[in-house]
Amino acid sequence: MYLPLFILSLLVSLYPASAGDFCVADLNLPDGPAGYSCKSPAKVTADDFVYHGLAAAGNTSNLIKAAVTPAFSAQFPGVNGLGISIARLDIAVGGVIPMHTHPGGSEILVVIQGQICAGFVSSANSVYIKTLNRGDVMVFPQGLLHFQINSGKSPAIAFVSFSDPSPGLQITDFALFANSLPTEIVTTTTFLDKATVKKLKGVLGGTN
Ligand SMILES: *[C@@H]1O[C@H](CO)[C@@H](O)[C@H](O)[C@H]1NC(C)=O
Repeated sequence: MYLPLFILSLLVSLYPASAGDFCVADLNLPDGPAGYSCKSPAKVTADDFVYHGLAAAGNTSNLIKAAVTPAFSAQFPGVNGLGISIARLDIAVGGVIPMHTHPGGSEILVVIQGQICAGFVSSANSVYIKTLNRGDVMVFPQGLLHFQINSGKSPAIAFVSFSDPSPGLQITDFALFANSLPTEIVTTTTFLDKATVKKLKGVLGGTN
């Protein structure tokens, strides 16, 4: 009757508990669909589970007047393998996090300061929009197009958590207008006129 317990305690003493507890990213090796390879547990320290990069505001002196500061596995190795990550949003007055998706995870946002108008569009093209104030939380289902706009009169701050250590970020306008995708292809696939496509490519740094 006590034999299984004995075997269990033998196994526990042979294999350190930490071996299966976490998989701190070894950033010297490439990222893959299953995340980074694990750093040797013997080399893991408390610092691997702490990230200071979200303490400071991101630089919002840019086109969108906003900054996304990620603490994904590439920045914060401790979240690798844990199915979670976090980021900070700073949105200046008049700023916007443009329509975008995170292919790899759902997002949950909490407003820390200011007012944010946020929304997403479902696969059925239904629209869900809400104005959020300090302390309000909104969730954005995985893969769906969504946005955040500073709808207040002061800088807005939010923290967003993801259900993946590396959820990805694809901004729709950048995908369409900030690269070498030929103007003809963009006009054909979006139904926008050529002048508009050329103008947006100019603003966002695209070519062709
Ligand atoms: C913010 O970004 C702008 C534009 O790139 C740059 O000119 C400015 O020096 C940056 N400010 C800080 C505090 O880094």
